[in-house]
Amino acid sequence: MNIKTETSTVNLDKRAGRDLGGGPLSLTPKDIVKELDRYIIGQGKAKRAVAIAMRNRWRRLVAPEDIQDEITPKNIIMIGPTGVGKTEIARRLARLTNSPFIKVEASKFTEIGYVGRDVESIIRDLMEQAVGMVKTGMMEANLARARDMAKQKVAQLLLPGFKESKDGEDSGPKPTSRDKILDLLEKGALDDSEVEIVLDQPQARPHILTSFGLEDLEKNLSEALSSVMPAKRHKRKVTVAQAMEILTQNEATAMVDQEKVVEAAKKMVEQQGLVFIDELDKVCLKEGRSHGPDISREGVQRDLLPIVEGSTVSTKHGMVKTDHILFIAAGAFHSSKPSDLMPELQGRFPIRVELSSLSKDDFVRILTEPKNALTRQYKALMSTEKVELDFTAEAVEELAEMAWQVNEKNENIGARRLSTIMEKLLDDVSFEAPDIAPTKIVITPDYVKERLTDVVVDSDLAKFIL
Ligand SMILES: Nc1ncnc2c1ncn2[C@@H]1O[C@H](COP(=O)(O)OP(=O)(O)OP(=O)(O)O)[C@@H](O)[C@H]1O
Ligand SMILES: [Mg+2]
Repeated sequence: MNIKTETSTVNLDKRAGRDLGGGPLSLTPKDIVKELDRYIIGQGKAKRAVAIAMRNRWRRLVAPEDIQDEITPKNIIMIGPTGVGKTEIARRLARLTNSPFIKVEASKFTEIGYVGRDVESIIRDLMEQAVGMVKTGMMEANLARARDMAKQKVAQLLLPGFKESKDGEDSGPKPTSRDKILDLLEKGALDDSEVEIVLDQPQARPHILTSFGLEDLEKNLSEALSSVMPAKRHKRKVTVAQAMEILTQNEATAMVDQEKVVEAAKKMVEQQGLVFIDELDKVCLKEGRSHGPDISREGVQRDLLPIVEGSTVSTKHGMVKTDHILFIAAGAFHSSKPSDLMPELQGRFPIRVELSSLSKDDFVRILTEPKNALTRQYKALMSTEKVELDFTAEAVEELAEMAWQVNEKNENIGARRLSTIMEKLLDDVSFEAPDIAPTKIVITPDYVKERLTDVVVDSDLAKFIL
């Protein structure tokens, strides 16, 4: 069975009777890796693993129904030092596949004296996120219609007696003046005129109680209360442009069917949800130490297990099943190993991938290749000041070399080092830019050495600055 070609993809989708379309869910593993390559340098193994996991979700949805529920996600543990792209891969993956995404830190649940949020709040937050995504999507789909209605309303405000265009009615101004005003609105010619609009003023939410672990309860209660309290209406003078914006938003919101939103969001979470659990290594139990904080570590693992294994979590939008949510965990695993996790959890994270630490050559590429590469960011920032910034290839080499050295000599913080190095390098330019513009500045190896050598060589200084 060849599921790679476009046509058979479509057929499979049809066979499943689902509206999977050609959407992000049906990206092939190679497509996914290729997309990730645009942002993340190297780490091929990790990209491959997440790409397969993603494709498996699509495969599950297309598989015969009787087996669908039996297929469990193959969760992943990414093992690697700090700042080499673990979080970035997960984040990009979620965005790329339009999956609801949440990042949590396992260790957050262990801090002594801190009564952490219960683990189920992860799913509640994920659901909240999906609701937001679906709602925004639906509002965007309605935008044209909403704008049209807003236009009619604003016209009504501008032209008392104006009626929504209905043929045959001749009360109010002549159709010509109505059409004219709609036309002017469309062209934005009236944008600066003022109108008075009536707005619902949402009640300030009553603050009820704040206590450990009860934040969700508080949120729900105060939301429930504010929906019972009548909204205050108030008049506001705004420009036509503002009125159009506000009314368009209102109309678009009103068109969204909350029930449909929740239904779609629930489906999205259950089938496409992606949870990134950072610092999983920090809740590992090391042998020979089974007292003190370790107890709470194992406690966190025990808490995590049900949601990873698949359970039903009650959220304010109803029950959400976690069976097919994909979990990607990450950690440095310096002093512990995945085998130190409790066996049940190990079994639920069958895929292990190692991310390598970054070399000087990787740094060169990270500085220049990704769409969001730092050199591009600074160029864009400076060009707003009419300062054209350019980096010679040799200068980038030099920067990478220095970043790498600082990582070696001090703490290795991976690609994060590049941010501090760049900031230091361009400190003067950033400060002076408005006064020296318009100009062109070429960053050469000499420029790099001049600005950075002192700091890089003096490792005490580097500790503070880089
Ligand atoms: N391989 C890479 N390619 C491009 N950019 C990278 C790469 N690795 C890291 N970066 C950059 O460094 C930043 C930090 O990386 P990231 O958040 O993924 O680290 P991490 O591996 O999750 O580390 P930690 O274990 O500390 O959470 C990212 O925002 C990204 O800009
Ligand atoms: Mg991270």
